[in-house]
Amino acid sequence: MKSLIDILDLTVEELDELIATAEDIIANPAKYAQACHGLKLASLFFEPSTRTRMSFEAAMYELGGNVISVTGAGTSSAAKGESVADTAKTVSCYTDIIAIRHPKEGAAYVTAKNATIPVINAGDGGHCHPTQTLADLLTIWREKGRFDHLTIGVCGDLKFGRTVHSLINAMSRYEGNKFVLISPEELKVPSYVKKDVLQQKGIPYVQTTDLESVMPELDILYMTRVQRERFFNEEDYLRLKDSYILTVDKLKTAKKDLAILHPLPRVNEISVAVDDDPRACYFKQVLNGKYMREALILKLLKEAGKIQ
Ligand code: CP
Repeated sequence: MKSLIDILDLTVEELDELIATAEDIIANPAKYAQACHGLKLASLFFEPSTRTRMSFEAAMYELGGNVISVTGAGTSSAAKGESVADTAKTVSCYTDIIAIRHPKEGAAYVTAKNATIPVINAGDGGHCHPTQTLADLLTIWREKGRFDHLTIGVCGDLKFGRTVHSLINAMSRYEGNKFVLISPEELKVPSYVKKDVLQQKGIPYVQTTDLESVMPELDILYMTRVQRERFFNEEDYLRLKDSYILTVDKLKTAKKDLAILHPLPRVNEISVAVDDDPRACYFKQVLNGKYMREALILKLLKEAGKIQ
């Protein structure tokens, strides 16, 4: 049973196929309106979410399917101590595909090991968030028309920001890309990403604390929020939370065709005034996430033999 736990579960060819499907859904939504008729998505969110949960649910409805949800750890038998494995076995009895978000790294993997239906990782702790990367990739594709020979700045909480880890993994597979890793010292990219991905593949990267000095060279600027929920103490969070605030003024030296991405939610990292800049792509990214989740649901249900 194929599931999506890590972005690297998809080959480059499969990513191309998902992008082609998403583009077709955008162009011909009526063609897909009954594609999942009679099928159900289990939307299991044990951690807060607006975009990921709602876009999965909207995606399934737009494909003609239905949704059963758990929202919040306190509303399911997880609150009584039920294991992730038993939850997976139980949910497999009622639905056809699972999207799960969980605060523990590895929870989606355990779900996939125990479920009898496809499982999609909708974010597991600080580990990864592959469907956000699908949204990011469609946005990069639509804005830049390519995935290679790009200088990609990622800025903010690179330690706990799981979307950054998945994005670096994904973009490291294309030729000629360079990364500029912009973060406070305490929130640098974990060594398993730096050593096992960037260094192992020989991908050029620089680390800096200074966003403004690198701004002119960037093709993509991927801003992230400092992840308050993953800090061990509030003092550190308060000290670091406003390390980077992107303003209209700071964009003066940026390329005219820079694409500004952010997985959202935004707290304070991008001034609201930047939203009016044509280079701001983060709300397009939100919509692209729904189309890519539709494409992914279709692919996994096809591979599971549930649809043609
Ligand atoms: N980008 C993202 O995962 O947003 P939510 O936490 O609102 O789902």
